[in-house]
Amino acid sequence: MLESFSCNIEQIEKTKQLGKILAKLAQVIKIKAITLEGDLGTGKTTLCKSIADNYLEQQIDVSSPTFTLLNIYETAKGQIYHYDLYRIKNPDEMVELGIEEALNSKALILIEWPNFAANYVKTLSNTTNVDIVWNEQQMRKASIRVNTTQKLTFV
Ligand SMILES: Nc1ncnc2c1ncn2[C@@H]1O[C@H](COP(=O)(O)OP(=O)(O)OP(=O)(O)O)[C@@H](O)[C@H]1O
Ligand SMILES: [Mg+2]
Repeated sequence: MLESFSCNIEQIEKTKQLGKILAKLAQVIKIKAITLEGDLGTGKTTLCKSIADNYLEQQIDVSSPTFTLLNIYETAKGQIYHYDLYRIKNPDEMVELGIEEALNSKALILIEWPNFAANYVKTLSNTTNVDIVWNEQQMRKASIRVNTTQKLTFV
């Protein structure tokens, strides 16, 4: 089942709140991966930080992993693989970047710029997609598509 909702995130606080909601959702319905799409600077990394902080229940040092492609965060509450595929040269690099280990573990996977490895990303099941766009007022708007077998009653 695909559940969709959207929200304006016109201030950074809203992006942080959305991260909190997505972290909770990931825990409750056991989302495996969250893909984050949107132009440069729309706030994908900011959203990842909020998801990580809330999911791992600790302030996580989420610098944009653009140059490393992958950062792994771990606390007593769980593990997150955070990919930023903007500079990936070949989608097959996903194997070197531990995608198999990530899939076979209990880790939550966050992927900025999923389109750069679309053939890998589309094989992921139980995935939620967030797409951040500029609305007519040049404010950020997030559209969220949750793949779930559960009925989400709060959206
Ligand atoms: N909802 C928001 N309102 C205002 N500013 C925001 C919001 N979300 C993020 N920002 C700011 O926008 C800038 C870019 O954010 P961020 O690095 O998270 O974007 P990004 O989508 O990851 O960019 P990139 O594509 O370059 O990786 C930062 O200065 C951040 O503080
Ligand atoms: Mg980023």
